[in-house]
Amino acid sequence: MSRIHELPKVELHVHIEGTLEPDLVLELAADAGITLPYPDAEALRGRYVFADLQSFLDIYYENLDVLRRRHDFARLAYEYAVRALAGGVVHAEVFFDPQAHRSRGVPMADVVGGLVDGFARARTEFGFTADLIACFLRDRPAAEAAETLDELVAVDAPIIGVGLDSAEVGNPASPFADVFARAADLGLRRVAHAGEEAGPESIRGAIDHLGVDRIDHGIRSVDDPDLLAELVATRMPLTVCPLSNVCLQAVSDLASHPLPDLLSAGAHVTLNSDDPAYFGGYLDDNFTAVAEQFGLDDETLARLARNSVVASFLPASRQREIIDRIDGWQAASTESRW
Ligand code: HPA
Ligand code: ZN
Repeated sequence: MSRIHELPKVELHVHIEGTLEPDLVLELAADAGITLPYPDAEALRGRYVFADLQSFLDIYYENLDVLRRRHDFARLAYEYAVRALAGGVVHAEVFFDPQAHRSRGVPMADVVGGLVDGFARARTEFGFTADLIACFLRDRPAAEAAETLDELVAVDAPIIGVGLDSAEVGNPASPFADVFARAADLGLRRVAHAGEEAGPESIRGAIDHLGVDRIDHGIRSVDDPDLLAELVATRMPLTVCPLSNVCLQAVSDLASHPLPDLLSAGAHVTLNSDDPAYFGGYLDDNFTAVAEQFGLDDETLARLARNSVVASFLPASRQREIIDRIDGWQAASTESRW
C-alpha cells in the first residue's frame, strides 16, 4: 500500500477550480490587488467545514474571484498537474465551469487558453496529459448553457466533452436534454453529476435525458437495486469520489461509504478526487483512504486504476500503454511478496 503513489492512475472527475489551493488564492489575490476577508491561507482553510454540497459551492464560487487573467488559469492547471503527477496520475479528464467565469466577465478565450497553456507546459515538462470537459451549471437556466456551448464553439475550445454540475437537489437533468443533444451532434462526449446528493431518479434522468457516457458520483444507485443492476449490465462507469462524499456529508463517514457494495455488485467504479483543495486530498489520498478503510488489496487497487483507463475517452493505444504500466505495478507488488 505504501506504493499507491506509484500506481499509474487516470483521473476522470476533478474540477480544476476545486484544485485552487488556499496558498494560491492568497498569491493570486495579492498579484491582482484584491483584498480578502481573511488574513492568511490557514484562516481560509479554517472555513472549509461543509454541511452539504451547497455550503461548499458557496465558498468554491467565492474563491474564484481571484482567477481573472489567462495566466491565472494557466497557473491553476499547471499546479494541479504537478500535484496529481506526484500521486501517480498520468492523465486527467478535467472539468471546468465556463459559466462561473463568464458571469464574472472573464473572456472565454482567456479561461480556455489559460487552461490549455498550463496543461501544455505540464505535458512538455513531464509528459502529463489532460483533456478538458466543460460543465454546465444545473442551477442556471438551460438557455444559458446553450449560449455557453455556442461561445465555446466560437473560441474553438479544444474540449472533448460536456458535463453537468453544481447544486443537484431540485435541479433535474431534463431541461438540459437539448444542449446535450447539440453537444453530441458536435461529436462531444457527455457526462453528468448524478446521485451525489439526489437519489437514483437523478441517475436515471442523466441516462434517459442526456445520454451520458459516465455518471459522476452515482453512489445513490445503491438505493435502487434495479438501477444498480442496469448500471452493472451496461458497464456504466461511476466516477466515485470518497473523500468528497465524506466532506460534503453525502455519507456520515468513510466506513459507511457504499464503495464496497458497488464493488461487490460489479459496478464499473473509478476513484477520483473531485475538489482536492477542499476535501483533504488528491487522487492518491483517495486511494490510500479507501485501501486502509476497506482493506483493499493491490489486485483491487489495480482493478480500480484499470477501470478508469477503460472509462476514459483516451484512444485505445494510450489506454493500452497505461494498462501495461498498471499491470507492471501489480506484477512488481506480487513479486515483492516473495
Ligand atoms: N458537486 C457538484 N458540483 C460541483 C462540485 C461537486 O462536488 N464541485 C464543483 N462543482
Ligand atoms: Zn464533482
